[in-house]
Amino acid sequence: MSERIVVVGAALVDDGRLLAARRSAPVELAGRWELPGGKVEPGETADAALVRELREELGVDAEADGRVPGEWPLKSPYVLQVWTARLRPGSAAPEPLEDHDELRWLRPGEIWDVNWLDQDVPAVRQTLAHLGAAEGLT
Ligand code: CDP
Repeated sequence: MSERIVVVGAALVDDGRLLAARRSAPVELAGRWELPGGKVEPGETADAALVRELREELGVDAEADGRVPGEWPLKSPYVLQVWTARLRPGSAAPEPLEDHDELRWLRPGEIWDVNWLDQDVPAVRQTLAHLGAAEGLT
C-alpha cells in the first residue's frame, strides 16, 4: 500500500471573513477557488507546512491555530486536511504571488459565491461547522 501525502489547506480567518484563493494553474484547476495551501514535505509538520505555504503563496506571516476535524480524498496519494489560521500582528495583507490570480475575503453569506474546487466543498462546509459561530462566519 502506498503512503498518503497530506495537502494542508488554510482556513485563514480575519475579522469574520474567510480567505478564498482562485487558482491560476494547472489548466484543469484554473479559475476554481480553494483554501490556499499545499503539500506537507517529508519531515515537516502540517502546521509548519501551512505557515510556509501561506508565506510562499500569499506573502503573509500567519499562524496555524487548530485542525478542522476530518480529511478529504484528493487524487491519490493526496488527502486534504484543513487547519484554521490567522494573520500575525504586523503581517502584510495577502497577495496572489504564485498559484493564484485573485483573492477574496468572504463574509458570512458570501461563502458559497465562489466556485470552490469540488474537493474543497466538503472541507469548507466542515470548516464553517467547526468555527462558524465562534468566528462570526455563520
Ligand atoms: O504548492 P504545492 O505544490 O505543495 O501544492 P498544490 O499544487 O497547491 O496542491 C497540491 C494538490 O492539492 C493539487 O492537486 C491541488 O489541486 C490540491 N489542493 C486541493 O485540492 N485543495 C486545496 N485547498 C489545496 C490543494
